[in-house]
Parts: sequence; C-alpha cells; structure tokens
Amino acid sequence: MDDTSPTQKQRAGLYAGNLGYFRKPHYLRRLRLWCFLATLILSLVTVVSYRYWKRDNLFSKGALSQGHARLAQDCRACHTGAQTDALKARLSESKDARSIPGIVKTIFSTKNPGNGSPHAHTAAFPAMDQACLSCHPAFGLHLPQSSDLKLHAVAAGAVSVRAENCLVCHREHMGSARMALPDAAQCAACHNNPAELSHHRQSQALSNPPVKATGENRNLGDGLITFITQSDVKRSPVAFSDFAHGHPPFGYEAAGLSDPAKIKFNHWKHLKPDLSGAGKDRTLACTDCHSPGPGGNFKQPVTYEQHCKQCHTLQILPNLPNLHIPHRDAEKVRWFLASVRIPIENALRAEGVTDPGVLAKRADTEMDGLRIRSKSLTLPDLEQRVFFEGDPKDDPDVRRMRAGNAKFLTECAKCHDVTPATVDRAPEITPPNMAMRWLQKGQFNHQPHGHMQCAECHAAAKNSKLTSDILLPTQKSCAECHRAPDAKTPPIMHGKTDAHATHTSAEFQRKFGGVKWDCQACHVFHAPAAATSAKPAH
Ligand code: HEC
Ligand code: HEC
Ligand code: HEC
Ligand code: HEC
Ligand code: HEC
Ligand code: HEC
Ligand code: HEC
Ligand code: HEC
Ligand code: HEC
Ligand code: HEC
Repeated sequence: MDDTSPTQKQRAGLYAGNLGYFRKPHYLRRLRLWCFLATLILSLVTVVSYRYWKRDNLFSKGALSQGHARLAQDCRACHTGAQTDALKARLSESKDARSIPGIVKTIFSTKNPGNGSPHAHTAAFPAMDQACLSCHPAFGLHLPQSSDLKLHAVAAGAVSVRAENCLVCHREHMGSARMALPDAAQCAACHNNPAELSHHRQSQALSNPPVKATGENRNLGDGLITFITQSDVKRSPVAFSDFAHGHPPFGYEAAGLSDPAKIKFNHWKHLKPDLSGAGKDRTLACTDCHSPGPGGNFKQPVTYEQHCKQCHTLQILPNLPNLHIPHRDAEKVRWFLASVRIPIENALRAEGVTDPGVLAKRADTEMDGLRIRSKSLTLPDLEQRVFFEGDPKDDPDVRRMRAGNAKFLTECAKCHDVTPATVDRAPEITPPNMAMRWLQKGQFNHQPHGHMQCAECHAAAKNSKLTSDILLPTQKSCAECHRAPDAKTPPIMHGKTDAHATHTSAEFQRKFGGVKWDCQACHVFHAPAAATSAKPAH
C-alpha cells in the first residue's frame, strides 16, 4: 500500500488550538452577510417604492399591439387605478382588509379575486372598459347596423346591446402586430344563448307613429328609399346556432307585407318574348332595366327616361318627334298645355322653320292635329287626354295619325296613380317611391353573386303581374351556399383558377356549402361613430 497521504491524526493537527475558527470574523463571510442584507433591503425598498420610479413596463405581460404601442409608457391608460405598490394592491382587492386579521388573511391568501366568475379574466379588470371607452367612445355600442340607427326616426322601438367587457372579444399583449379582430365564436357566445341575449338586450320605446302593417317605403334622410316594417321591441330575442340553423328570416319575408311602390308595372308582360318596341326577336332582359349601381352592389333606380321612354313616349305630335310633354312635374305639364302653341312653335324653329308666315301655318296644322287627338283645345280636355286617357285608340282619325308606327301620348295614368285636377291645381301624381334598399339589419352585395342568374334569387319576377309583389329571396335560399361545408366537400378555391373550375359554379356551391358562413361575413359588430347619440338611456 502507498503511504504518502496524511493520516487522520495529522489532519486534526492542522486545527489544533483553532477549534472556534468559524466564530472568528473573516472578510469573505462578512461580505456574504452584507450581500444578503443588501439584497433583502433593496427588494423591500423596490417593492414599496417602485411606483415612484414610473417605469411600469417592467410588469408587462407582453408587447402591446401596433395601435396601442405608444401606450407602452402609460400602462394606466388601460389599467386605470392599477397599483404598482404591491401591498396596497393586495389590500385594495379585498373587503376583509379593514381589520388586522383581515389584512393578514388577505396578504397570505392565494385566491385571485377574479376567479370563479364566468369571465374570470375580464372580471379582474372592472375599470378597463371605461378606459377603452375613454379613447373609443363609439365602440361601447353593439348595434350592428348603421341603417338601424336611421330607423330610430321612424321605428316604434329600438334595440341596442351594451357590449360591456371589451375584453370578452379584444385581447392585448399578444404581440406588436395589429390586434387580431374577434372571430365568430364570440358572436355565438351570446347569440346561441337565450339567457345571455336577454341579459344584454336593451329595448327602448320610441314615440314615432306606427308603420303600416303591410310595410312602407321611406327616405330615412340619406336619400335612399328604404323598405321598412313594423318593429316589435317587446318580442324576446331569438337564439340560434348559425346562419343555416335558426337564423331569423329576413324582415321582408314576414307574412302580410307588400311592395308599397306606387308605379304600375307588370314584370310578366314586359318579359314576354317579342315585346313590341324591344326590337326584332328581342326579349327584354332584367339588366335592360336593372343595371348595377356604383361599386356593383345595389341596382341603379329605374327611371322613365332610361327604361320606359323608348316604348312609352310622352311625344305629343307624331310630326314633331322632339317635342315631349315634360315628365316629373304635373304643374309644368299644365303650363305646357295651357300655352301649347309656344312649345310647338319653338320645336318648329328648332327644326329650321324660320319664316314667320311658314311657321304660323305649320303651327296651325299641328294645333289641328292636337284638336283631333283631344276633344277640344281647352285645358280640361287636353289634361284629360294627357293625364288620364292617352290616345282614344278606336277614334278613326287618331288611328290614321298613328299609322306608320308613330308613338305618342302615353297617359300619365298608365304608369301613375293620378288624382283629378281642380281649377287651381293640376292633377296630382302619387310619388312612385320605389324602394332602393330592402335589408336593414344585414349586408347583401350583388357583386360576388355575378356567377348566378338573377332568377336564382328573384324567381318570382318572371311571373309577377303586380307591383305589390315582393320579388326578393328568402334567408333559406342564401343558406344553401352560406353554410358550413359538408364533411366531404372538396376545398373551395376562392378566386383562384384550378383544375376544379366547377368550384366557382353556383351548383357546386349549393351542393357542398362552405361559402362564407360566419356572422362577420354579413355583419359588423360595432355601431358606427354616429351611434353614440342614439344610445338609449338606462
Ligand atoms: C391598450 C390597453 C392596455 C395597455 C396600454 C396595457 N395593458 Fe396590460 N392588459 C390589457 C388587457 C386587455 C389585459 C387583459 C389580458 C387579456 O387581453 O386577456 C391586460 C393584462 C395585463 C397583465 C396580466 C394581468 C392578469 O391578471 O392576467 C399584466 C401584468 C399587464 N397587463 C401589464 C401591463 C403593463 C406593465 C403595461 C404597460 C407597459 C400594460 N399592461 C399596458 C390592456 C392593456
Ligand atoms: C362580441 C365581441 C366584441 C366586443 C364585446 C367588443 N368588440 Fe370591438 N370589435 C369586435 C369586432 C368583431 C370588430 C371588427 C369590426 C366590426 O365588426 O365592427 C371590432 C372592432 C373594434 C374596433 C375597431 C377595429 C378596427 O377595425 O380598426 C375597436 C376600436 C373596438 N372594436 C373597440 C371595442 C371596445 C372599446 C369595446 C368595449 C366597449 C369592444 N370593442 C367590445 C367585437 C367586439
Ligand atoms: C389612450 C387611448 C386608448 C386607450 C385607453 C385604448 N385605445 Fe385602442 N386604440 C387607440 C389608438 C390611438 C388606436 C389606433 C387607431 C388607428 O390606428 O386608427 C387604437 C386601436 C385599437 C383597435 C384597432 C386594432 C388595431 O390593432 O389597430 C382596437 C380593437 C382597440 N384599439 C381596442 C381597444 C381596447 C379593447 C381598449 C381597452 C382595453 C383600448 N383599445 C384602449 C387608443 C386607445
Ligand atoms: C354580449 C352579447 C352579444 C354578443 C357577444 C354579440 N351579440 Fe349580437 N346582439 C345581442 C343582442 C342582445 C341583440 C338583440 C337581439 C334581438 O333583439 O333580437 C343582438 C343583435 C344583433 C343583430 C341584429 C341587429 C339589429 O339591428 O336588430 C346582429 C346582426 C348581431 N347581433 C350580430 C352580432 C355579431 C356579428 C356578433 C359577433 C361579432 C354579435 N352579434 C355578438 C347580443 C350580443
Ligand atoms: C322594363 C323594365 C324592367 C325589366 C325588364 C325588369 N324589371 Fe324589375 N322592376 C322594374 C320596375 C319599374 C320596378 C319597380 C316596380 C315594382 O316593384 O314592380 C322593378 C322592381 C324590381 C325588383 C324590386 C321590387 C320588388 O318588389 O321586389 C326586383 C327584385 C326586380 N325588379 C327584379 C327583376 C328581375 C329579376 C328581372 C328579370 C327577370 C326584372 N326585374 C326585369 C322594371 C323592370
Ligand atoms: C321594350 C318596350 C317597352 C319598355 C322598355 C317598357 N314597356 Fe311597358 N309596355 C310595353 C308594351 C308593348 C306593353 C303592352 C301594350 C300596352 O299596354 O301598351 C306595355 C305595357 C305597359 C303597361 C300596361 C300594363 C298592363 O298590364 O296592361 C304599363 C303600366 C307599362 N307598360 C309600364 C312600363 C314602365 C313603367 C316601363 C319602364 C320601367 C315600361 N313599361 C317599359 C313595352 C315596353
Ligand atoms: C311609362 C310609364 C310612365 C309614364 C307614362 C309617366 N311616368 Fe312619371 N314616372 C315614371 C317612372 C318610372 C318614374 C320614377 C323614376 C323617374 O323619376 O324617372 C316616374 C316619376 C314621376 C314623378 C315623380 C317625381 C319624383 O320626384 O319622385 C312624377 C311627378 C311623374 N313621374 C309625373 C308624370 C307625369 C305628369 C306624367 C304624364 C305627363 C308621367 N309621369 C308619365 C313612369 C312614367
Ligand atoms: C344571390 C341572390 C341574388 C342574385 C343572384 C341577384 N339578386 Fe338582386 N337582390 C338580392 C337581394 C338579397 C336583394 C335585396 C338587397 C337590398 O336592397 O337590401 C336584391 C335586390 C335587388 C333589386 C332591388 C334594388 C336593390 O338594389 O336593392 C333589384 C332591382 C335586383 N335585386 C335585381 C337583380 C338583377 C337584375 C339580378 C341579376 C343580374 C339580381 N338582382 C341578382 C339577391 C340577389
Ligand atoms: C349559389 C351560392 C350562393 C347563394 C345562394 C348566395 N350566395 Fe352569397 N356568396 C356566394 C359566394 C361564392 C360569395 C363569395 C365568397 C367569397 O368571396 O369567399 C358570396 C358572398 C356573399 C357576401 C359577401 C361576403 C364578403 O365577405 O364579402 C354576402 C354579404 C353574401 N354573399 C350574402 C348572401 C345573401 C344575403 C344571400 C341570399 C339572398 C346569398 N349570399 C346567397 C355564394 C352564394
Ligand atoms: C350570408 C349572410 C349572413 C350571415 C352569414 C349571417 N347573417 Fe344575420 N342577417 C343577414 C341579413 C341579410 C339580415 C337582415 C335581415 C333584414 O334586414 O331584414 C340578418 C339579420 C340578422 C339579425 C336580426 C334578425 C331580426 O329579425 O331582428 C340577427 C340577430 C343576426 N342576423 C345575427 C346573425 C348572427 C349571430 C350570425 C352568425 C351566427 C349571422 N347573423 C350570420 C345575413 C347574414
């Protein structure tokens, strides 16, 4: 055995006479103690005095979103009344903190005051909504449709929803990009749940005269004539699971409603093949009268000038094709007829007849023609013809004048409701008041439906003989495409051309579904800025 290592005895000898060595001061041990004490005191000082340093971002949970980035130095902009004084914060959270034992209990409690509530993480920030609203005042209101606000001027009642707890849908500290906008699951949280719906619903009675039970067309101050129905704010809200299952039918589908427009029009007659005036072998198409408006969304209003005049003229004399009875103003028509020789002479001049003698002679001839058409040249007789009767078709003289396919004198009453004249007033035309908007509470846009035939949604138009018919599609027909995809659905390629070109066909979409069906495809959540003033008092 090698015997070079020290024995136990030799080792013990090293400490002889120095057995209390650990009680003697040593600079390294002192340093250790001071380090310990300094750390302890510094920590306590930090905890108690951190709030004076005004650098709250140490506590941050994560980067703030782009829109809020400049608030990184001002956490309290959202965390109103937040405490960086740990003790005060802990105490302010508890009601027990008024007595010494309560304070002790609170400090050592492990319970988070927010826990247990259905919206645990939101309940922890009771003041946060107010903070959000101080910068985003209009967003407190869930009243999804701006047009609904316009309806306040005419509706008997209004419903609005207080979107308390912004945090249910909006999250912060999730990264420095834009805040992710909420998804449809957030809508379902209320709309699937009758209790939540009733809880958040605020109804407000308004003192407007009731809307007719059959519906009315009104200009709500935006220059658009909108179809409106009676509002029933007392009914309980309908909970449903998605657009294809239980979503309420559209307003215009309700029983007993009719199109209130006051213009006589027969779709069926005008869509028949070879309608005279449409051109040889030509049938009118829907788009001959309904062309897309700006942005391709709504249809441009139908007008007499663009869509009727070519076949139903207000031409008063076949020899003067440029002379028309003025349209759209019955008083002007009265003036025109009362001194009809003046416009006749003007029309002749415009045709190049300048010699006064010739002009007078031609004017006499035309006046004779007019006398044949009307019983006399007195104002009441002329007005009777123009407003109510048009050409007496069986009068042989008139027949002769109409030979050669000349068109003239469609009476106003062919298209309009006309009230007879009085001595001091021309006959009155009931304004046509054709609706330009039919939906108020949700979006529709014609443009993405360009791959469909008009008749797929407006099937009723082809056989409709009355203006009062409503020719619009049902909610159910939309849900044929706008629904969750079938399990077996091949992936839909939005806007892309691929081997499955049929994916863009309406037939394919109906068969498999899977076209945008989330609530936000057709709805927005917040009311627009102007809404704040429409907020009901409570
Ligand atoms: C734009 C508003 C906003 C600002 C500014 C903001 N926060 Fe927040 N903070 C929130 C929201 C909202 C939550 C709730 C978490 C969530 O999104 O679910 C939250 C949560 C937190 C939490 C987590 C608390 C918990 O119990 O979950 C901490 C910690 C926090 N914030 C610290 C900070 C700090 C530090 C700052 C300043 C640098 C700051 N916040 C600035 C909105 C904000
Ligand atoms: C039910 C979910 C939900 C609640 C609750 C909610 N929001 Fe929103 N918020 C949305 C949705 C969805 C959008 C996207 C645009 C839209 O639909 O209006 C949005 C958009 C916004 C925007 C605009 C974003 C942009 O596009 O620039 C702001 C600001 C906003 N919300 C603030 C708030 C405030 C403040 C609150 C609380 C008073 C709140 N939100 C409550 C769902 C919600
Ligand atoms: C001090 C004012 C202020 C406060 C408080 C505030 N915001 Fe904002 N918020 C802004 C500004 C400014 C923008 C950027 C607007 C823009 O870009 O047009 C913004 C943008 C947004 C957006 C748009 C999304 C994005 O990333 O652009 C949402 C949503 C939003 N805030 C929600 C909230 C919520 C929820 C709260 C409360 C937790 C809140 N805000 C508190 C000022 C504030
Ligand atoms: C906090 C609960 C709540 C949430 C979350 C919620 N809603 Fe609502 N919403 C309601 C209530 C309540 C009504 C009124 C229902 C009624 O009277 O029939 C309503 C009404 C509506 C209406 C009808 C508006 C009108 O003019 O009558 C639409 C559209 C709507 N919500 C869409 C949405 C969308 C989209 C979302 C998700 C971004 C959403 N809601 C999230 C509670 C909520
Ligand atoms: C010669 C012109 C003309 C043609 C062609 C025509 N329309 Fe119309 N359409 C009108 C007029 C005028 C109105 C307003 C009077 C009314 O409501 O009947 C109207 C109204 C409508 C309305 C809204 C009113 C309601 O009650 O629903 C729809 C929808 C409509 N048309 C669809 C069609 C379709 C689809 C076709 C083709 C199959 C078509 N129209 C062809 C002139 C025309
Ligand atoms: C292409 C030619 C053409 C156009 C364009 C046209 N119509 Fe007609 N319309 C006719 C013909 C032909 C008849 C059947 C003969 C008649 O009654 O004069 C008719 C009949 C009518 C009738 C009588 C209907 C009935 O049931 O007896 C009314 C009312 C009418 N049209 C209104 C209009 C209005 C309003 C417009 C414009 C929106 C219009 N028409 C556009 C050709 C046309
Ligand atoms: C062939 C059908 C037809 C005939 C005939 C016709 N109109 Fe019209 N009228 C229309 C249509 C369509 C409109 C709505 C669109 C427009 O203003 O062009 C209209 C609109 C009007 C308006 C409403 C203007 C407003 O401000 O809303 C008046 C008034 C009017 N017509 C008067 C007359 C008078 C007077 C006559 C006879 C001299 C007449 N119309 C003949 C089809 C006709
Ligand atoms: C996917 C179904 C769909 C198809 C396809 C469709 N429409 Fe519509 N149309 C609607 C709905 C929904 C409305 C109600 C929109 C509103 O006014 O709020 C409407 C409204 C209208 C109106 C009333 C005025 C307006 O703009 O609101 C006319 C006119 C009309 N459509 C004509 C047509 C014609 C013409 C075609 C074919 C070129 C067509 N539509 C194709 C669904 C459809
Ligand atoms: C034959 C299938 C089909 C029918 C029926 C149909 N749509 Fe669509 N719809 C589509 C397609 C495809 C798109 C484009 C989707 C996309 O861009 O991803 C679309 C888009 C839309 C959009 C625009 C969504 C957005 O995000 O821009 C709205 C709103 C809409 N449809 C409403 C309706 C309404 C309301 C009805 C019933 C009147 C209806 N659709 C009927 C196929 C259909
Ligand atoms: C394809 C388009 C589309 C989708 C998807 C859709 N809606 Fe709608 N919704 C509409 C239209 C259009 C109306 C308007 C009816 C009217 O004004 O007559 C409407 C009306 C409503 C109404 C008011 C009903 C009433 O009579 O008061 C509520 C509430 C509503 N939608 C909630 C939702 C919710 C929640 C979702 C998601 C689960 C959703 N919608 C999905 C198109 C859609």
